[in-house]
Amino acid sequence: MPRKVNYGLDYDDDYDDNYDEYDYGYEVNENETPPQKETIKHSVWRCSICTYDNDETMSSCDICGVLHGPLLNNSIYDKKRTANIFDLKSSRVSSTVVGRDEAVKVSSMRSDSSNQSTEKGKHNRLDEINILKNIEVGPPAGSRTSDNCSASVQEGWLGHVDESSVAVNLRSSGKSSLSLMPKERNVMVDDSSSSRNGGEANSLTSNLENISFAAKSGHSNDANPGRAISRAQYKPEKWMLPEKAEQSLTQLNLAIVGHVDSGKSTLSGRLLHLLGRISQKEMHKYEKEAKLQGKGSFAYAWALDESAEERERGITMTVAVAYFDSKRYHVVVLDSPGHKDFVPNMITGATQADASILVIDASIGSFEAGMDGTKGQTREHAQLIRSFGVDQLIVAVNKMDAVDYSKERFDLIISQLGAFLRSCGFKDSSVSWIPLSAVENQNLVSAPSDFRLFWYLGPNLLDAIDSFQPPTREFSKPLIMPICDVIKSPSQGQVSACGKLEAGAVRSGSKVLVMPSATIATVRSLERDSEACPIGRAGDNIAVSLNGIDGNHVMAGGVLCHPDFPIAFAKHLELKVLVLDGATPILIGSQLEFHIHHAKEAARVARISLLLDSKTGKVVKKAPRCILAKQSAVVEVILQEAVCVEEFSKCKVLGRVFLRTLGRTVAVGIVTRIVEEQQ
Ligand code: GTP
Ligand code: MG
Repeated sequence: MPRKVNYGLDYDDDYDDNYDEYDYGYEVNENETPPQKETIKHSVWRCSICTYDNDETMSSCDICGVLHGPLLNNSIYDKKRTANIFDLKSSRVSSTVVGRDEAVKVSSMRSDSSNQSTEKGKHNRLDEINILKNIEVGPPAGSRTSDNCSASVQEGWLGHVDESSVAVNLRSSGKSSLSLMPKERNVMVDDSSSSRNGGEANSLTSNLENISFAAKSGHSNDANPGRAISRAQYKPEKWMLPEKAEQSLTQLNLAIVGHVDSGKSTLSGRLLHLLGRISQKEMHKYEKEAKLQGKGSFAYAWALDESAEERERGITMTVAVAYFDSKRYHVVVLDSPGHKDFVPNMITGATQADASILVIDASIGSFEAGMDGTKGQTREHAQLIRSFGVDQLIVAVNKMDAVDYSKERFDLIISQLGAFLRSCGFKDSSVSWIPLSAVENQNLVSAPSDFRLFWYLGPNLLDAIDSFQPPTREFSKPLIMPICDVIKSPSQGQVSACGKLEAGAVRSGSKVLVMPSATIATVRSLERDSEACPIGRAGDNIAVSLNGIDGNHVMAGGVLCHPDFPIAFAKHLELKVLVLDGATPILIGSQLEFHIHHAKEAARVARISLLLDSKTGKVVKKAPRCILAKQSAVVEVILQEAVCVEEFSKCKVLGRVFLRTLGRTVAVGIVTRIVEEQQ
């Protein structure tokens, strides 16, 4: 039955994020003069196939992979660099080692162990990078480095961004990074990149626009030396695409969120029971045990709240994962904690939700407490869910029994919360409001039987779930699976990475690149819903058992990706952020918690480049000293340790961030530029 793991989760990148308050439109600031670049000569060899001018140190064409001459320097360089990353990251693993049967949850937040990264390790690493820079071999160090923020925004904050609307002005600032740069790179571009470059093809600035981490052959040398392919060139194999004849239900990852004690676990437990996922016998057991502990009203919640501490405290602390089948969907229920102390866990679970149920406690005073700007989680959860890309929402107005199923109370909640949801960017047409009672089983899977709900004529909860639009999946893109949990079995020497496949597909025998350790592993087997499965495709929540890799190199917060399409690893980032209503201002030097997919790091705000009008996205002020609540801005942050990351325009799930402090989320945002990558 339900598993207390921090995985399961999705959010869908393909949802239309086109809403006013949340616009990430982003373009080059044409008023800024590009800095003068040093001209450094270094020899190149021209690929006989695609005519790309490769740096002399490349043993194969950076674009098409055709080999050129002996491997010489590259092999030395590649070994060295892999070791670097490896050394740095191996000390960060915090995973508990367990056997298969005693599988326990492993911390999904890398920061827990991030402090273990030694200063010594860092120095060694820097020394090696310097040596590498001096001898000028290998792919570009800090290839995305820019000394000047150059973002201005053309549309409102958080509007839909497609790649064609994004133009990032990347300028190489340092001699070393420039000297390591092949003259003309234009790799890993999306379909729109050629038009983006337009007539500026000869300018170095525009040439740098489309550089991506895929150009760094060093990260994938084990699998495919020196090869870098444009994402647009990626061709999925036949088995990666679902067959039209497949009759299986579409998976829908459904995050259950809302203020503490609103009844999320009770509602989830009741649904699972009604749909046959919890047997009568099990239910009796929960009832008996809960009663014995004086917590009789939590019987259904106990199906999800499995740990002794959760049961004793009567609160959910980590995301519980369970599933049931509706008419249209294989629904993965992600029952999130509502208590403010566990918002980071809620984030871990909900980052990947396709759709969400926001549970509201209709009781007098409780709805109001949830809406409280400083203490309530209703608003925070709604904002977070929306900024994860979720735009389909059911508002389950629970505990209607406590207000006599009053229509007036229901209408009041709709009017107050509805206005807030609109301000978060939820469209009215994508939000369903269902009055119900989990405890009295009203309006869950059938029409209400209590006459006091006669006034409600809409769908029940299950029908509303079936009315969600099916999520769009990235089947045809290269593999990306952010790792949220790691399960190790030392006796069998096995390690499994758990998470949701955001893009692409895997099956046993597939080679995967495990980031940030930059190690290639082979997929041994896959599990879905605790059962072996032959193929995992985008949208699936799976456990991937890996061969050929030391378990210490697989960590929560890392990412499994396609060996030819490594994702970036960086600690210096440019973000576009929106400070939430009621949040404390962000200043230059502010120390914040930085959250990105399943990783968390301490971060310092190094620079506030631009203050933006949060409605229009226009630049209001350059270099402001602080960002106040409801303001948006372009900032640079420096993280304590590097994280796996991509620019939002390239990969939404790896480019969405949250900034928190003092137990509150203060800002949501996106990565607009990777200022400097780690090598
Ligand atoms: P957290 O996970 O800790 O945020 O709590 P939760 O939202 O999961 O709430 P939970 O399901 O643990 O329920 C909290 C309390 O609300 C329990 O005592 C439930 O019995 C009660 N409750 C849940 N649903 C209803 C309902 O429909 N009516 C009434 N009257 N009480 C309910
Ligand atoms: Mg709960």
